[in-house]
Amino acid sequence: MKTGHPQIDREHKELLDHINSFMDACRVGTASSEILNMLRFLKTYTQKHFAHEEDIQVKNQYPYYKEHKKLHEDFIKAILAIEEKVLQGGSSIELVVEVNQKVGFWLIEHIKVEDIKLGKYLASRDALS
Ligand code: FEO
Repeated sequence: MKTGHPQIDREHKELLDHINSFMDACRVGTASSEILNMLRFLKTYTQKHFAHEEDIQVKNQYPYYKEHKKLHEDFIKAILAIEEKVLQGGSSIELVVEVNQKVGFWLIEHIKVEDIKLGKYLASRDALS
C-alpha cells in the first residue's frame, strides 16, 4: 500500500486509521452514531490530501493527472451524497454498509491501484521527496 512518497504515505495512513476505527465501530454496533463524524472527517481530510497529491502530480507533469483528479472529485461527490442522506434521514445500517463499500473499499482500491501507479511514476523521475 506504500507509494514511496513520504507525505502521501503519511496522509494515507491517517485516512486508513480512521477507516479502520470505523470498521471497528461497525463490529461493536456503534457505527450509526459514528457515521456523521466519519463523513465529516473524510470530507475535510480527503480534500486536503487530494489537493496535496494533485499538486505533486502537476509539479511532476504526471500524464494521468486529469483522470486521477476526476476520480478524486467523484469520491468527494459520493461522500457528500452519503452525508446528505444522513442529514436528511439519519443514519442507518444501510448507510453504514454504503460507507464501508463506497468509501472504505474505494479508498483502499484507489491507493492500491492509482496512487501506487503515481508512486512508480514519481520514483522513475526520482521525485519521491
Ligand atoms: Fe491518495 Fe489519489 O488519493
